[in-house]
Amino acid sequence: MIVLGIESSCDETAAAVVEDGYKLRSNVVASSMDLHAAYGGVVPEIAARSHIEAVMPVINQALEQADCTWDDIDAIAVTYGAGLGGSLLIGVLSARTLAITKSKPLYAINHVEGHVYANFLTELADTPQLEFMKGQLPAKQPEFPLLALIVSGGHSQLALFRGHFDYTLLGQTQDDAIGEAFDKVAKIIGLPYPGGPSVEKKAVEGNPHAYQFPKAKMAGKYDFSFSGLKTAVLRAAQAAIGEDFTFASKGLPERLNEAQKADIAASFQRVAIETVVDKALVAFEEFAPKSVVIAGGVAASPALRQHLAERLPIPIDYTAFKLCTDNGAMIATLGCFKAMHEQPTADPYTLDIAPNLSM
Ligand code: KG4
Ligand code: ZN
Repeated sequence: MIVLGIESSCDETAAAVVEDGYKLRSNVVASSMDLHAAYGGVVPEIAARSHIEAVMPVINQALEQADCTWDDIDAIAVTYGAGLGGSLLIGVLSARTLAITKSKPLYAINHVEGHVYANFLTELADTPQLEFMKGQLPAKQPEFPLLALIVSGGHSQLALFRGHFDYTLLGQTQDDAIGEAFDKVAKIIGLPYPGGPSVEKKAVEGNPHAYQFPKAKMAGKYDFSFSGLKTAVLRAAQAAIGEDFTFASKGLPERLNEAQKADIAASFQRVAIETVVDKALVAFEEFAPKSVVIAGGVAASPALRQHLAERLPIPIDYTAFKLCTDNGAMIATLGCFKAMHEQPTADPYTLDIAPNLSM
């Protein structure tokens, strides 16, 4: 079963080819991230315009890298939600058109479920472009029951998968996603977008216990909240320069010194990571899953990986950093499993986008 996956929910135009749900044959990602950096976050109109330009070249490159022609492709899988409307539309319309003109079955993929399936890739095709991921994929596929900690720019969720397509959402963020909190904190202390990697880099120089930021107490055992943490960071930054809460946040980066920025980054990162790991451990104890996976852009955080590895009683297999942030491989992988399990296909004449799709 060879599936072409297409992903365009945010600022990455991505396509990939996956075989039988475990073997990555190609992975191509074009990002408009640099165009958004000047604005400190994704500008939906810019993202959509970039997708229009990139989508067909990226798909063609994914086929070429996989050494595939359209005859080799058994099905197309595409992200139809959640995400930015204009961005999703480009991927979905492209996939619909290709499904019709190339006569391929079409699978509609939930982006967040897709992130979880990046962890099912265990093998790389012998292709020079994939070589940098060598040694970075899990040795074997995760087993059910599977606890998934989903931590991305748009989502923070804990889900228990009992089998393919059989899962329960245990809890989720009630406000900001964890990645969003990284992005906002980066902006407060004047670090470049995307905030995850830049906070992580700055945190290395700082003291993670310099500030005692609060962990939100939630009614739902597995729910998260990050907006209070973000506000606490803002207040701490204002206090660090001797100002009160009326001081405008955009004036903070030039008044904070590098040591203060590093301490704030390190203290924030510690609490954000502890927050999600604390809940993952409670879920681990309650449900005794056979495997635990982390998924989404923040799963690329070495600090999160290290903290989880230290506290989780079972070893955890991580996927390549490149497969944590948005990509087509995760969409193609879930597409493979849908095809292999004869799940319903989408109608290429009517498939609509679902910007607010939940798990
Ligand atoms: O999964 P993703 O590519 O997009 C969404 O579906 O949202 O996640 C992007 C998020 C951004 O918020 C980015 O700051 C965060 O992942 N991120 C990281 C790291 N790399 C990316 N967060 C923490 N540490 C990292 N190394
Ligand atoms: Zn994502």
